[in-house]
Amino acid sequence: MTARPPAAARRPPASDRSTLAVLASGTGSILEAMIAAGLEVAVVVVDRPCPAEERATDAGVPVERVGRDDFGPGFDREAYTARVVDTLRCHRVGTVAMAGFGTVLGPGMFVAFPRRVLNTHPALLPAFKGWHAVRAALEAGVAVTGCTVHLATEEVDDGPILAQRPVEVLPSDTETSLHERIKSVERELYPQTIRRFLEGELP
Ligand code: GAR
Repeated sequence: MTARPPAAARRPPASDRSTLAVLASGTGSILEAMIAAGLEVAVVVVDRPCPAEERATDAGVPVERVGRDDFGPGFDREAYTARVVDTLRCHRVGTVAMAGFGTVLGPGMFVAFPRRVLNTHPALLPAFKGWHAVRAALEAGVAVTGCTVHLATEEVDDGPILAQRPVEVLPSDTETSLHERIKSVERELYPQTIRRFLEGELP
């Protein structure tokens, strides 16, 4: 008879806090900057077909598409969140960085990864929350906006701020030109802040 291995050896390895996943839905330029900065990304999760998938594949990073087929009022956010959490668990993820992820995740995400979900937002939070932060800053006529890296919570674009950088608004700015300048700052600030977070320098 073959002896069974002890229970501890049969259990799947626990997730490692430094095992990083990135959630994206857009062009993936922030994701690309993370990879270029040398962050080891274990998996990229997308919610729809998007250029970020290709950027991840080109960099040799596994991609999981947890496709969202319902963008209407009947969207079952909790069920979708559970699918994302399961996918992350399969990859033994310990820390999650959202980089332009287009789906608001439900409370289950923050129960599964307490204080381990980061987000980058193209405004100086708490100003201009939401998906149209750059347009809102232009419409408000502010002279300075910027970007914020924060710990994500159930409340959208809320949670403890880890880092911020200002970006000047120019009189000639359009939403696209201003967002591009903000993103060039995010591409530096986010990877730096994630690294500090993973190394335990930040709470
Ligand atoms: C970034 O500006 C990020 O802050 C924003 O999406 C962009 C992603 O750029 N996220 C949000 O607005 C979330 N509220 P990318 O697709 O080029 O990486």
